[in-house]
Amino acid sequence: MAVKIVVASAAYMQYAGAVCDLIRISAQQRGTGIVGRTPEYLADKIKSGKAVIALDNNKVVGFSYIETWSHGMFVANSGLVVDLDYRYSGLARRIKKNIFMLSRKLYPKAKIFSITTGLAVMKINSDLGFVPVTFSELTRDIEFWKGCEGCKNFDILQRNDHKVCLCTGLMFDPEKPRRPKLNKILIVPQKLPWRFIFERPVIFIKHLIRRQRLLRKRSALHKQIQRNNNLT
Ligand SMILES: CC(C)(COP(=O)(O)OP(=O)(O)OC[C@H]1O[C@@H](n2cnc3c(N)ncnc32)[C@H](O)[C@@H]1OP(=O)(O)O)[C@@H](O)C(=O)NCCC(=O)NCCS
Repeated sequence: MAVKIVVASAAYMQYAGAVCDLIRISAQQRGTGIVGRTPEYLADKIKSGKAVIALDNNKVVGFSYIETWSHGMFVANSGLVVDLDYRYSGLARRIKKNIFMLSRKLYPKAKIFSITTGLAVMKINSDLGFVPVTFSELTRDIEFWKGCEGCKNFDILQRNDHKVCLCTGLMFDPEKPRRPKLNKILIVPQKLPWRFIFERPVIFIKHLIRRQRLLRKRSALHKQIQRNNNLT
């Protein structure tokens, strides 16, 4: 599976229908949480370069797009979707990273946020430097909240005056980039004493391999967070 992720442009307009279908089917499966958009709306996002598309040859297998609110003060990375057959392979992570970088490039001063009930998005955004916030920190732009009208929990949001709902708000604020708390993100175990190599050789070697793997992962994460912060 060689999935490539492209920044959309007018050259990718023919995929708008397929993206729309992917979002609709996923929303039906999930029952909540994804805002349905018309092909025209998505085509406009694609044409204006405010989206990323994951393509396996010519098949659309993932998507996300950028929306701006409160006159560009807030940016939302919306419509994240991955084809059912391509899930749990890290594709959403790749799409999110790409749409996040694109948002930072196009709107370097904007606060980037999302609202979600999904653990996957919470994990990915958190690794990108997002922090949980209450709805009071998000855009008050009424058009954004209108997007929740299709959600089955909309009555809860309405009852709470748009201040509380089942979704968690996550925000990346370029003014306050989160300092990497690497030890908290990835706990790397201490080195075992050398005597273990004679006493428990299998455990020692397994521990060493795991430690090396976690150190490599931590270093990659560190570089990614630094890159995100440097984009400010
Ligand atoms: C949510 C979605 C985009 C995840 O796509 P994916 O490509 O499977 O995600 P990834 O493989 O990149 O996984 C990223 C992380 O989330 C976890 N994850 C993925 N799907 C998950 C799920 N349904 N529940 C809990 N955790 C999940 C993965 O285990 C991984 O965690 P790890 O890095 O700690 O191992 C996909 O399931 C989807 O399209 N769902 C329907 C649309 C949707 O819900 N969109 C989000 C709207 S807010």
